[in-house]
Amino acid sequence: MRYKIKIEPLGVEISCGEEQTILDACLRNGVWVPHACTHGTCGTCKSKVLKGEVDFGLASNFALMDFEREEGYALLCTAKPKSDIVIEADVEVEEGIEFYPVKDFVGKVIDIDDCARDTRKLFIEIVNDKIFYLAGQYIQLYIPGTDQNRAYSIASRPLGEGNSIIELQIKKVPGGLGSKYIFDELKQGDRVKFAGPFGRFVLRKNFDNPMLFLAGGTGLAPIKAMILDAIESGVKQEMYLFHGVRSTRDLYDQDVFSRIEQENSNFHYIPALSEKLPEDEWNGELGFVHEVLERKFQKFSGFKAYISGPPPMVDACIKVLMRGRLFAEDIYVEKFFNEK
Ligand code: FES
Repeated sequence: MRYKIKIEPLGVEISCGEEQTILDACLRNGVWVPHACTHGTCGTCKSKVLKGEVDFGLASNFALMDFEREEGYALLCTAKPKSDIVIEADVEVEEGIEFYPVKDFVGKVIDIDDCARDTRKLFIEIVNDKIFYLAGQYIQLYIPGTDQNRAYSIASRPLGEGNSIIELQIKKVPGGLGSKYIFDELKQGDRVKFAGPFGRFVLRKNFDNPMLFLAGGTGLAPIKAMILDAIESGVKQEMYLFHGVRSTRDLYDQDVFSRIEQENSNFHYIPALSEKLPEDEWNGELGFVHEVLERKFQKFSGFKAYISGPPPMVDACIKVLMRGRLFAEDIYVEKFFNEK
């Protein structure tokens, strides 16, 4: 059984299966609605059901209070339609950006590269289709034998004709379900399943402001896709990449960014170590990303900033940027939460 879902204020109508969440139906039809956790705990996707009936699904009582349910609100990531419905979602259409519909993919692991300490790159060749995405977006990788998936950003440059190979960068998290699968079980040649693209942390190419890219650890993945895309698109403004890691053992992709820096006078690569070990041969920057950033610049007005990494790193960078007069609307953020 399928139902019609009308999304206001866009006035767009899509179809949704009775076993499908409304969020899934929206994303698969190219309608971007706000979301984050995708399993009923954060409340980001809360929307009003103006007409019709829904099954609320496993919405947490903290994310969706009883009185909110009574007032007609639902979490789109858990709610399924029980009739044709009309919802009012907080859709904000941003000029110059068009999102691709989410699809399911089957891929084959064609290469595994242990590029740094507890850090692995996976190269996946898609066998059933090509993926279209915007630089900075992520996929949800299904974990076999479970009903779970894990989000990983795509580090490859998006190609106009769609990508048949994508690169992921994964940090091992002790006890993490995705880490166990990727570090202990997955081998070259194995099949994987994933869905995507997801996310709003994307490169805005319609501005000519200088750009700051601030990455912590494997938060580099979406930033790498953005920089490769910006360079390939002939972006002329100044671009600064700050990549913070703990020690030299955690640093990777230096060759990629050093080469881009040599070939493009508008690109500046600033790797930084937060902890210099006695054995580290290092003449570069020392300190956390936000500290190095503040040493390099005092004023940030006029910049666009992209920040990706663990929440404390992201929050510290936002503080420095705002102290240097950069407004919230010029800061784009992707927080990498440790998986469970
Ligand atoms: Fe978090 Fe729906 S996306 S509750």
